[in-house]
Amino acid sequence: MTLSQAKQKLEKYGQEHVLKYFDELNEQEKEALLTQIETTDMSILESCKHREELAQKGVITPLAAMQLTEIEENRELFTATGLEAIKAGKVGAVLLAGGMGTRLGSDNPKGMYNVGLTRELYIFECLVNNMLDVVRQAGAWFHLFIMTSDKNHESTVHFLEEHNFFGYKAEYVHFFIQEMAAATDYDGKIYLEEKGKLSTSPNGNGGWFISMKNAGLLELVQKEGIEWLNVFAVDNVLQRIADPCFVGATIQKNCAVGAKVVRKNAPDEKVGVMCLEDGRPSIVEYYELTEEMMNAKDANGDPAYYFGVILNYLFRVQDLFEILENNLPLHIVEKKIPYLNQDGELVKPETPNGFKFENLVLDMIHQMKSCLPFEVVREKEFAPIKNKTGVDSVESARELLKKNGVTL
Ligand code: UTP
Repeated sequence: MTLSQAKQKLEKYGQEHVLKYFDELNEQEKEALLTQIETTDMSILESCKHREELAQKGVITPLAAMQLTEIEENRELFTATGLEAIKAGKVGAVLLAGGMGTRLGSDNPKGMYNVGLTRELYIFECLVNNMLDVVRQAGAWFHLFIMTSDKNHESTVHFLEEHNFFGYKAEYVHFFIQEMAAATDYDGKIYLEEKGKLSTSPNGNGGWFISMKNAGLLELVQKEGIEWLNVFAVDNVLQRIADPCFVGATIQKNCAVGAKVVRKNAPDEKVGVMCLEDGRPSIVEYYELTEEMMNAKDANGDPAYYFGVILNYLFRVQDLFEILENNLPLHIVEKKIPYLNQDGELVKPETPNGFKFENLVLDMIHQMKSCLPFEVVREKEFAPIKNKTGVDSVESARELLKKNGVTL
């Protein structure tokens, strides 16, 4: 893109200020900035001025979950079905590790965090250990796709290679980098993080399938005959990945997606809950739950909106191809964004100072025809690490790991 084309684009979106230091840049930096201006989607930035409208939901009704008793009654059948699919190479896993982990406050990628006390035990290692259980049970490896972002790709790859993927077979590990989005102040003006660089932030975890496509990995998925992708977050150290029983239940129920869920520990717990929205599967966020919904009962007299998602979904690949071209809703989130001040000095703010723009994987559920919410025992499968201390923290995860017999 030439300078005059860049000026035209910036003028259209009211972002001319990002060229403030252009004349001070060397040729290489100039070119890099022009490329960044060319590739940045600026059409989304205006929407921060009407954030409330973006959050509109349809009509919410309950969606029954498959609960523990039903799972126990069918465990053998489900597990056999799941194992057969894994052995046949029809199941792959996708680790979402492109997030910034700002709440944890570590400079390294979250997966590099050491949760061990008397020995080293990294978050990535916990996840691989859980996968290796399934590899042993199935007697077969399954492909693992790892999503990183520009901000943490190199360190993630280097760390995992250095540790020989904690015993996972290297040929079955594939990295891909997610897209970035510009980060702005409260008026939607893009911040600069360097004189020749727009501030950016990973564009949320909802773009993972498109990013896999952009990385050419969907060809591998098709070539290998992978029919199911188990997408999971980096920070839940107890979660089961490619869990044969869960895979089998989703196949047996012929659903387009399965979602692992836990019973909420209080009606107002801060987790998104499974529901139907205008008759299609969906997730209603905790802050969208009305008092009435919190107290609503289903036909059995149980709480109607009581199963929280834990970011562990099993998507049927064929259905993902069908929604590939669909847009996902935009989420505009307040964030602490490092920026250059008036004097061109880098400031790392202590409190939020603007917006990041994200698509979320949970919105993909609403684009699926059918969903199986699959209950898991919270104490055995849900130990997210979001913070250093308190709720969903390193501390709480350590306690749960110990309870599950993991030596720390
Ligand atoms: P979170 O919503 O917890 O975000 O991500 P985060 O960035 O890790 O942490 P905070 O909010 O800054 O403290 C849930 C999962 O989605 C992934 C994360 O890596 C985590 O596994 N994620 C999030 C991405 O892969 N890309 C993103 O852009 C955002």
